[in-house]
Amino acid sequence: MASKLVSLLCDARVLLLAGVITFVIVQVRLYSAQSEYADRIAAAVEAENHCTSQMRLFIDQISQQTEKIVSLEGEKQILEEKNEQLNTLLQQLERKGVISSEKNVEDIYAAVVIIACNRPDYLERTVKSVLQYHTPVASKFQLFISQDGSHAEVRSKALSYPQFHYMQHLDLEPVKTQRPGEMIAYYKIANHYKWALSHLFDERKLKRVIILEDDMEIAPDFFEYFEATGKLLETDRSLMAISSWNDNGQRQFVQDPEALYRSDFFPGLGWMLTRDLWQELSPKWPKAYWDDWLRLNETRKGRQFIRPEICRNYNFGEHGSSMGQFFRQYLEPIKLNDVPVKWRSVDLSYLEEKKYNSHLHDLVSKAVPLSGADVVTKAYDIDGDVRIEYANQATFERLARQFGIFEEWKDGVPRTAYKGVVMFRWQTMRRIFLVNGTSLAQLSEN
Ligand SMILES: *[C@@H]1O[C@H](CO)[C@@H](O)[C@H](O)[C@H]1NC(C)=O
Ligand SMILES: *[C@@H]1O[C@H](CO)[C@@H](O)[C@H](O)[C@H]1NC(C)=O
Repeated sequence: MASKLVSLLCDARVLLLAGVITFVIVQVRLYSAQSEYADRIAAAVEAENHCTSQMRLFIDQISQQTEKIVSLEGEKQILEEKNEQLNTLLQQLERKGVISSEKNVEDIYAAVVIIACNRPDYLERTVKSVLQYHTPVASKFQLFISQDGSHAEVRSKALSYPQFHYMQHLDLEPVKTQRPGEMIAYYKIANHYKWALSHLFDERKLKRVIILEDDMEIAPDFFEYFEATGKLLETDRSLMAISSWNDNGQRQFVQDPEALYRSDFFPGLGWMLTRDLWQELSPKWPKAYWDDWLRLNETRKGRQFIRPEICRNYNFGEHGSSMGQFFRQYLEPIKLNDVPVKWRSVDLSYLEEKKYNSHLHDLVSKAVPLSGADVVTKAYDIDGDVRIEYANQATFERLARQFGIFEEWKDGVPRTAYKGVVMFRWQTMRRIFLVNGTSLAQLSEN
């Protein structure tokens, strides 16, 4: 009995001992786990502190930069104002004849005038494009901005470019349209053109003027192009003016950056006229629609214009919503030439009337004649040039629609036509000639 009690007590002690040992082990583990966590927390707290101090540093840096930007903007504003004041002063002094920064008028090949009105952001884009290619070599082109009206932002933008002379047309008399429902804008534009051209030719005595509008960008060889083609105007009396525009100059219809053409249709948009022509036109200058007036044979008197295959200016102005569709179809896809052609070394004598006629006669007569309903598909299957005859305006318009070129006619002449021939490229270097019944006969008359 007593021994049983002893062994029972012994068992209890053993159990207790085991319990104590387990307890101690658990405590030791707990302690080590706790201290490990404490270490980790300390590391985390330290990392967070580091982050916070870095963030503060960044915030400090950002606010310093922002202050710098603000102060630079202030300086820019002040410099712009000073620049404008100095320009105005310079122009006043020039006007009073106190100083002259003018070149000898004989050394100036042509004036380039940007016609502006109320679109400062457009004007800026045009000015930047002109300045980009107005290199020292092109410095015989004198630059002008002519503003119609008193839009303040356009004025200060124009005055902020010292490379440009600023002129301002302020029409004090109210514009009267001739027919009810007409847009005053067409009258104001014609007035402004007349005023600007008269200032440049009659007062400044310049020899040639290139007209740009405030929604145009120019090609890298714009100046060289006008210099080279200007020679033709002097020697060939059957030419009226030079244009840097092709109405059918959309990417899908053009290939050759060197090719130039004669056209009975005034292309407008970035064009050059001489003093002689101005003297002829100025007494008759119309009250409105000056460009359509230049397209009348009565004004043109059978003379032609030179135009490139690939446009030397790009019209980026999407005027108003009614023009949106027109812009997307005809202006947006225009290819602006990006190949700087060395115009000085290109022989342009093929453009002289007689040579050109026989050259074109040759090309047109060698082209494969096509007719019928599906000429567009048939043209695909022919390797070389193609000739398609149209009988009248309605059949021309149908063909133009099928190919996607301009349908419009003015005074009996389709856009881009020369003696009834409208030429464009189709998919490749292949030319399509749309010709009327007398085109070939007219080309062989010399
Ligand atoms: C255009 O004008 C010229 C010269 O004035 C004239 O010879 C020619 O016949 C006219 N052409 C047309 C189609 O009226
Ligand atoms: C062809 O076009 C020329 C030039 O525009 C024009 O003088 C002639 O009358 C036209 N011929 C026909 C048949 O339409």
